Amino acid sequence: MRSALRARSFNRLLSSAVNMVQAGGGGRCSSLLPRRWASSLPQLESVDRSDEESGGEIDWDNLGFGLTPTDYMYVMRCSVEDGAFSRGELSRYGNIELSPSSGVLNYGQGLFEGMKAYRRVGRAGYTLFRPEENARRMQHGAERMCMPAPSLDQFVDAVKQTVLANGRWVPPQGKGALYIRPLLIGSGAILGLAPAPEYTFLVYAAPVGNYFKEGLAPINLVVEDGVHRAMPGGTGGVKTITNYAPVRTSSSPLAVSNSNHTTPVDLPHLQFQSTVLDLCVQVIKAQMDAKSKGFTDVLYLDAVHKRYLEEVSSCNVFVVKGRVIATPATRGTILPGITRKSVIELAADRGYKVEERPVTVDDLIDADEVFCTGTAVVVAPVATVTVEGQRYSFRTGPDTVSQELYTTLTSIQMGLAEDSKGWTVAVD
Ligand code: COI
Repeated sequence: MRSALRARSFNRLLSSAVNMVQAGGGGRCSSLLPRRWASSLPQLESVDRSDEESGGEIDWDNLGFGLTPTDYMYVMRCSVEDGAFSRGELSRYGNIELSPSSGVLNYGQGLFEGMKAYRRVGRAGYTLFRPEENARRMQHGAERMCMPAPSLDQFVDAVKQTVLANGRWVPPQGKGALYIRPLLIGSGAILGLAPAPEYTFLVYAAPVGNYFKEGLAPINLVVEDGVHRAMPGGTGGVKTITNYAPVRTSSSPLAVSNSNHTTPVDLPHLQFQSTVLDLCVQVIKAQMDAKSKGFTDVLYLDAVHKRYLEEVSSCNVFVVKGRVIATPATRGTILPGITRKSVIELAADRGYKVEERPVTVDDLIDADEVFCTGTAVVVAPVATVTVEGQRYSFRTGPDTVSQELYTTLTSIQMGLAEDSKGWTVAVD
């Protein structure tokens, strides 16, 4: 019923998009539709799982968060004629063909998700963590970005198929996870500013270890007060690709290692401008400056008051004072992380008072502990945060709240503890 409604509203959306373009002299709808790309996808005869347990040629002990291409990806399309996603299939992992005027390339009409699959303990198969939450978040983001989205079942089924087809790339227990990246992009060609006439849902995967180059060691952040990641009314609360376009990894040739974290911060003041592109360019600059000064990442402040914590480039942030844990409330500028949501619930179960509220820089400075959460970073302890050139240190190591929450969460995710919440989903 819900998917029928969604399909109808998508059809209305597409018709009005086509009308908009026609009114703007963009030509007839049919001339805007891209040709099907089935023939351009790497072809698949059958999924070969014979070497599922072989583990490939990979050095499992040094995974990091680099891209190791795997064997298969899943692709499903939805066009103006279809009205809803259908007929998804696995294909060989490989490049895809896109029109130069596709919605995603020209107007950033794209969303992504991040999920992990772990190898099950003592038995065959894999485990996913709350995959329907990712599916729901993609649907919510799709509404904001005027895109159709796969149904919950389509999303979870595509993820399961991708994991099974790439089974040999799921790291051994304790060595990492298979990171799964569902993408939803406006793949149809469009010139005038309007929703694309065709969408592609694609799922690929890669084996990963720790996200930060520090591994599980505490990280060092710098508060950025001149550049903002998101603004009220913008898209900070959904997982659009434009929020992440600027992310630069520590393995980039631009990274400069510097262990002196006492260096005063001297970030150039970058004037706030309201276009997404300008925002991205400015955020790139902020991250490059931060990393070249030896910081792990940037902690962004709100764009209006410039005094409330928002999030780190790739994760949510928490501050701990005594038995109280506070994290910025999600009010449109902060991504509602699934790890964030899970950690809030686990912390409350363990007797902490958890507050979702505006968190100020003063709250941060006064905190006993600071940590970050995200699918990729899991629960990452923060050793220092530098604010206006002043470095503040926080508790790290054993017997910290972040350590307790990390262990509680990952034990459920990896199947080492009972999943009393029903968060894990078996794939076999
Ligand atoms: C994730 O944690 O899965 C994300 O999507 C963040 C990304 C920058 C790696």
